[in-house]
Amino acid sequence: MSEERYLTFALCKGRLAKQTLALFERIGIPCGEINDPDTRKLIFVNEELRLRFFLAKGPDVPTYVEYGAADIGVVGKDIIMEENRKIYEALDLGLGKCRMCVCGPASAAELLKGQERIRVATKYPNIAKDYFYNQKNQTVEIIKLNGSIELAPIVGLSEVIVDIVETGSTLRENGLVVLEEVCPLSARVAVNPVSMRMENERITGLLQKLSACIDG
Ligand code: PRP
Repeated sequence: MSEERYLTFALCKGRLAKQTLALFERIGIPCGEINDPDTRKLIFVNEELRLRFFLAKGPDVPTYVEYGAADIGVVGKDIIMEENRKIYEALDLGLGKCRMCVCGPASAAELLKGQERIRVATKYPNIAKDYFYNQKNQTVEIIKLNGSIELAPIVGLSEVIVDIVETGSTLRENGLVVLEEVCPLSARVAVNPVSMRMENERITGLLQKLSACIDG
């Protein structure tokens, strides 16, 4: 019997994890007790299929994949864009669809038309910088925050924010609106480029199964 090496998957902790695990289950890859909220175990092994899984903080997933500590990662396009790692984006899973937007009070729309040096609060400074500097040619001050970004324009930290909008209810409940759309987002499968060459058959087979499952 051949001793295939383990293929390692890095999955994002949080809301995407559940949907990703359900998808893997549908293509015949159960990931075991990884779903158990009480477990403190960090790594889960499917011996039969020679696969290993671990959950990591979103922004760390591309790091594990770039260094080859994980062969494959499942992570949002927002994080892929922000982290800008050397990874191969292989498949759009169409899960966790949402949009990266510039948001703020409706009155801030005017500030986006000209060359005003406004303040932009965001968890995604690289995406915000690229959007304002390279796409809009507007020089702005980027303020990095780590969560509850919608607070910033309400308490006067910034004029606008660059953030994820899914249902839009956080904006609505806080009197904010979408002012401009930066790009659509969804979960992607990212692969380490060396793994893609060395384990091409296994990884391609897996990508095909995932792709068929989301199309079907
Ligand atoms: C995200 C995002 C928005 C919210 C959008 O925050 O930053 O705040 O979800 O979702 P909605 O359009 O459906 O209301 P998350 O809940 O991930 O937490 P965070 O504020 O700590 O980033």
